[in-house]
Amino acid sequence: MYKKFIRPILFLINPEKTHDIIFFFIKIFFKIPLVKFFVYKIYSNEDERLNIELFDLKFKNRIGLAAGFDKNAKLLNELECFGFSHIEVGTITPKAQSGNPKPRLFRLSSENALINRMGFNNDGVETILKRIKRYKGKLIIGANIGKNKSTPIDNSAYDYLYCFKKLRNFVNYFVINISSPNTPGLRKLQSKNYLNKLIETIQKENCSKKTIVPVLIKIAPDLSFKEIDDIIEICLKHNIDGIIATNTTLSRKNITSNYLAEEGGLSGNPLKERSNEIIRYIKKKSNKKIKIIGVGGIFNSKDVKEKIKLGADLIQVYTGWVYEGPSMVKKINSSLLKMKKEN
Ligand code: FNR
Repeated sequence: MYKKFIRPILFLINPEKTHDIIFFFIKIFFKIPLVKFFVYKIYSNEDERLNIELFDLKFKNRIGLAAGFDKNAKLLNELECFGFSHIEVGTITPKAQSGNPKPRLFRLSSENALINRMGFNNDGVETILKRIKRYKGKLIIGANIGKNKSTPIDNSAYDYLYCFKKLRNFVNYFVINISSPNTPGLRKLQSKNYLNKLIETIQKENCSKKTIVPVLIKIAPDLSFKEIDDIIEICLKHNIDGIIATNTTLSRKNITSNYLAEEGGLSGNPLKERSNEIIRYIKKKSNKKIKIIGVGGIFNSKDVKEKIKLGADLIQVYTGWVYEGPSMVKKINSSLLKMKKEN
């Protein structure tokens, strides 16, 4: 239904507009009595065999919504009905910022991919925190945090720390995003010296209170294995809970779309292989000590099973959900359940 009738109409419209329209209609639709109940019934699996415990948190299944979809925590109540176990809000910066000029999101339909150069457009930590506080549902909420564009790279740690302190009592886990390609210089924070200082600052604050919050870092698929080795070392040194692999890529390998020349991060199918390679590498190199959230190019249960086999503990989706539609998570979870029954 979605792929045959709804998607062809949505895909006629500019992608960022489509995103806004969908947010608008979901918000209105869910105000109708019982809609939430029925959408939940249709699109969610409730089965204990899907449960998984990680970072001392109980996830009802392995599938989450990746950062960037609900940047501003506007739709948590509604998105909860589509089967996800967790939603990562953000990237959140201390001050609100409008991001890069439009157009900044491109649909590469023939490649099942997107290119975006949004540039951390978000409402800022204060406003987003108010929305998170209002959410009373059961989802696990992650806060993906970053720095403002105007903050010099040498002061970045203060931006991350500011967001961390504001949000720490209201979210279940944090993601230090150092891998967006759309904030100039941000990816420099993945280098050994910058990252060490940043993670030290956050973990010092984290450990200064009674309740320690899980902290993960999100890395780029464009890193060399040597750079990943440095990141693994820092993660182990500072007791980082896990790595999210990966963010979008700057590579345009095997892409033929007209949008090939657009600047920004590429997501979806063309990212899958590189993201898988990195998951496999981290798991092996860290002797399975580092937990991994696998993200990049997931469209169906086969993709999920592959990532799990390579070492991913949890999975996140973004582009695949846009292409496959609202039933995607339920289909994946049903297939994972079927696999459990067969074993
Ligand atoms: C993203 N992604 C992203 N990641 C992040 O850490 N912070 C962010 O603000 C965003 N914003 C964002 C916007 C858009 C339009 C897209 C398509 C993606 C990256 C996302 O979370 C994910 O890591 C990649 O998209 C790879 O997964 P998929 O899309 O291939 O499933």
